[in-house]
Amino acid sequence: CGIVGYVGSRAALDVAVDGLARLEYRGYDSAGIAVLSGGKLELEKRAGKLANLRSALDERPRPSDGIGIGHTRWATHGPPTDGNAHPHTDCARSLAVIHNGIIENFATLRRDLEDRGHAFASDTDTEVTAHLLEEHYARTGDLAAAMRAVCRLLEGAFTLVAIHTGEPELVVAARRNSPLVVGRGIGENFLASDVAAFIAYTRDAIELGQDQVVELRADSVRVTDYDGAPAPVREYHVDWDASAAEKGGYDYFMLKEIVEQPRAVADTLLGRAGLDGTLTLDEMRLSPEDLRDVTKIVIIACGTSYHAGLIAKYAIEHWCRIPCEVEVASEFRYRDPILDPTTLVIAISQSGESMDTLMAVRYAREQRSRVLAICNVNGSTIPREADGVLYTHAGPEVGVAATKTFLTQLVACYLIGLYLAQVRGYKYGDEINAVIAQLAAMPDKVERVLDTVEPVRELARSLADAHCVLFLGRHVGYPVALEGALKLKELAYMHAEAFAAGELKHGPIALIEQDLPVVVVVPSREGRSVLHDKIVSNIQEIRARGARTIVIAEEGDDTVAPFADTLISIPRVPTLLQPVVASVPLQVFACELALAKGNDVDQPRNLAKSVTVE
Ligand code: G6P
Repeated sequence: CGIVGYVGSRAALDVAVDGLARLEYRGYDSAGIAVLSGGKLELEKRAGKLANLRSALDERPRPSDGIGIGHTRWATHGPPTDGNAHPHTDCARSLAVIHNGIIENFATLRRDLEDRGHAFASDTDTEVTAHLLEEHYARTGDLAAAMRAVCRLLEGAFTLVAIHTGEPELVVAARRNSPLVVGRGIGENFLASDVAAFIAYTRDAIELGQDQVVELRADSVRVTDYDGAPAPVREYHVDWDASAAEKGGYDYFMLKEIVEQPRAVADTLLGRAGLDGTLTLDEMRLSPEDLRDVTKIVIIACGTSYHAGLIAKYAIEHWCRIPCEVEVASEFRYRDPILDPTTLVIAISQSGESMDTLMAVRYAREQRSRVLAICNVNGSTIPREADGVLYTHAGPEVGVAATKTFLTQLVACYLIGLYLAQVRGYKYGDEINAVIAQLAAMPDKVERVLDTVEPVRELARSLADAHCVLFLGRHVGYPVALEGALKLKELAYMHAEAFAAGELKHGPIALIEQDLPVVVVVPSREGRSVLHDKIVSNIQEIRARGARTIVIAEEGDDTVAPFADTLISIPRVPTLLQPVVASVPLQVFACELALAKGNDVDQPRNLAKSVTVE
């Protein structure tokens, strides 16, 4: 979910709606705002995208001042209806509250509140907080004190933001495990789930810690713990400006973000990898000594970040000779994994907020393993709680389906793998120095893919009516295939499956039928020609059974051309780096196919960019 709050001299309604527009990628099942102006609480909320809320607001008088809060929802408890949209209010309609997260003990709290005479208007877990705030405010007449008292009663993860007619110049918010940042202006202050909501007004931000309550007034920001004691905060300056979070002439953020990939990859490498084979990763906060002790690596992540982890495993095991496991974060801590202080856990998360990954990080730290985060959002929760972090410098990614953050995660994984290999003394010294030098060429190689991708778009448009697409790969091409299939599911709502090409004959080959599109990611011929030859055989096997073969292979690979109905050439790069170039045509393919079907590629149905519930 996305959250905004504003106190200052601007029209709070406009600031809130504008902020929601920038946060809509965090959830778009419904949107709502509450403004307190002239002592009156104005509330409007609508199921569906922000456009529905905007139309509803156009029908009524707009307050030109006041304080305001806004919410864009990714539904957890209760379907996405007008009634379940946030803000929620109490019986007397004297306060409004918005929430991100899940209140796990809401059923008990609701029963108790109903016993005490409160009538509920929605199915949400959030509404209990409105009624609890009502009770506590009635006792104290102090919204911040009421918020602290309510937070002490709640179990689960939440960000809560509330306003009350009794304190018309105050926005109060609380944070436990869900994201919340403050933007500091002059004579005005902002609150949001992420800085994108207020970057047009200020780049001065304050990061809130766990279990803190903030009281926001036009000229002050006060932060306390749940007992009311002043709490430490970290102030920082956001190093990108509002234009980075704009579409810049593209119809969709995703199109812009795909094109930004060469720059993003270059920025992630900047100052870290030298052409002479030197690596500078001092910012990682893990010393060479910490890394020398490592006996096992476990990578945890979700979604696209998980696919980056799968690719990292091939690189890390080959370069470092350290066993490396990769696991989806939501499974990890529930299976009693074997961890100890010599295990290095690498948590990959674009947002740094995915609850599944955060909980896995906490579990790993409880087991005394060291945790290294790979993250794109400065100061987000996962890097703050990890022992070390390597930031990807992809810039803000707004499209829900990850593109440039995926490529930069790959680069970060390579940097970590190569660094570990160097620190620990490595077997393939020459190869490693060569790869470090070759990383520098990756931005240009990605640029070349983008320059030659038009036929992929045409192909995608021609397949808009296909009912299913299969993806095959071997070695690092297998996770690339998984990611290609995920992109197609997310964006085109099309059935898509990926298989390790060698597994095909053990079952999935039964799926092949006349004209079924099958995308095959062919491994580089460099060093692993056995694999290359095997996949050429796999292509022939599916072609013989009627499949329409779409083959991604490196330039000059003449051996596959005769068996490819469509050949997509990518630049030649070292095998382990191939996913950086091979993934790009698959992103374009999924994006274009989804557009041909008329889908919104920035906000695919049912998804959210950052899922802050487990
Ligand atoms: C959500 C998004 C996915 C993303 C995953 C992990 O499910 O829809 O696109 O890959 O979260 O996000 P993270 O921020 O942890 O990388």
